Amino acid sequence: ITVPVPKNEQLNSYAPGSCEREKLKKALSELHNDFVEIPAIINGKEVKTGNFGNCIEPHNHQHILAQYHKVNKQEIDLAVEAAMKARIDWEEMPFYHRSAIFLKAAELLSTKYRFLLNSATMLGQSKNAYQAEIDSACELIDFWRFNAYYAQKIYEQQPLVSPKGEWNFSEYRALEGFIFAITPFNFTSIAGNLPTAPALMGNTVIWKPAGTAVYSGYFVMKILKEAGLPDGVINFIPGSGAEIGNFVIDSPYLAGIHFTGSTKVFNDIWKRTANNIHLYKSYPRIVGETGGKDFIFAHTSADVKSLAVACLRGAFEFQGQKCSAASRLYIPDTIYDEWFKEMVEMLETVKMGDVMDFSNFINAVIDKESFDRIKNYIDYAKNSPVAEIIWGGNCDDSVGYFIQPTLIKTTDPMFCTMQEEIFGPVLTVYVYPEKDFSKTLDLCDKTSPYGLTGSIFAQDRKAILEANNVLRHSAGNFYINDKPTGAVVGQQPFGGGRSSGTNDKAGSALNLQRWISARSIKENF
Ligand code: NAD
Ligand code: ALA
Repeated sequence: ITVPVPKNEQLNSYAPGSCEREKLKKALSELHNDFVEIPAIINGKEVKTGNFGNCIEPHNHQHILAQYHKVNKQEIDLAVEAAMKARIDWEEMPFYHRSAIFLKAAELLSTKYRFLLNSATMLGQSKNAYQAEIDSACELIDFWRFNAYYAQKIYEQQPLVSPKGEWNFSEYRALEGFIFAITPFNFTSIAGNLPTAPALMGNTVIWKPAGTAVYSGYFVMKILKEAGLPDGVINFIPGSGAEIGNFVIDSPYLAGIHFTGSTKVFNDIWKRTANNIHLYKSYPRIVGETGGKDFIFAHTSADVKSLAVACLRGAFEFQGQKCSAASRLYIPDTIYDEWFKEMVEMLETVKMGDVMDFSNFINAVIDKESFDRIKNYIDYAKNSPVAEIIWGGNCDDSVGYFIQPTLIKTTDPMFCTMQEEIFGPVLTVYVYPEKDFSKTLDLCDKTSPYGLTGSIFAQDRKAILEANNVLRHSAGNFYINDKPTGAVVGQQPFGGGRSSGTNDKAGSALNLQRWISARSIKENF
């Protein structure tokens, strides 16, 4: 039995006049007008608690798309019970049956639910059509297809030596307990991957979606059910992060955590797990993809036009709400003026607004808390003697949470907007004297606690080599003459080190191996 060799899902462009654009618009309008009540899903059953949270449209925050039932301790206990009950049958199901479920989910998403899931992501997370297509269609489909393929490669292990009269082999078991998947708001694909990757390897899962992405997460659960996922394999429990997190992490049946979100929350999760270590049967596997302060570093030999395009797309697509988004730029004085002119020319054409208008490049940031945090950074820069706003800086939350793409220039490489994750459409620029290239590379490496993504822009091969060496721990995903965003499953396995996570590369065999435990078996004849 062979899992088909996957190919990356083809992107729809949603070009004006295309039938794909019309279908997506129809799905958007239907979802926008259709109020949904979202239950928790435990052991395959809908569970309603009557304790509601709202799903709103960030670009139109008075519009409530859905209400979801938040779980309490009682439902968490039910979810743990369901996951523990389902695990033996699920683990014993032959791998090709398990993988068939996720391959079918990929097919359903590709052919039947693409416009629906893209619409849910556009409305609930304020992504434009192109960004949603990359995320909730192509990347999620790719995760499901490539994971099945990589998992098969893991199970096809290298034969062990068996001296005469004995037989040595090993088998890969699921972990002894359940996996807790905790997902962020900014990628529907990541939210879909975190519970399904451990499930593919035979584990059962409790999935806590981000409060601001319960809406798209619910549709992912529906696709998985239609694809044939048995009851109890993935249990969907929306509600408060810290409360649910604490209850679940305190369960003695916890065997692993698959997390994506901020560094702070991941640190809290590690501490709580460490304090509980005496409770668990085995050391829990903890996999986390966390924050970033991603850079673009330009050398004087850089092609300025492509550098500017990379800054625009890398910093501002999806309002800078990507862990990989470029948020600090190091640029030599020799090319700064030309770069700035290119940026202004492009930024003047950039439109901001509702996701229903496909010509908007920028939509809203996710919620009031994010809006306030980003605005505070911009206001701080406005009043600082070492920084100035050189483009943008306007913020308006009267209808939706809109922040204009903003460029801050600073003379201090330690300025807070060069150091801290803002998670919004803000790029801070530090101009260095051309002769200080090597010194500034060192500064870029040493002054950030993060290590997620980064780019070098240079035509000079010696400069590329030097950057590649100096920055080797500064970015788990390093790009040469490209923006630091947009990793593709199967092409650039994604993840970072330092305070950006455990670098277990989502959508790769490295990640899947974390969800199995090997047993070596020797038999004498
Ligand atoms: P967040 O940390 O606020 O929330 C992530 C998840 O953790 C949510 O489901 C939240 O409810 C839950 N949570 C909160 N407190 C918890 C606790 N005490 N215990 C358990 N769970 C808890 O992050 P976010 O705002 O949803 O996402 C943005 C962050 O995610 C950014 O820092 C971004 O860089 C990071 N991110 C990283 C990657 C990556 O691959 N490295 C990808 C996407 C997002
Ligand atoms: N995988 C996403 C990117 O590379 C986060 O931008």
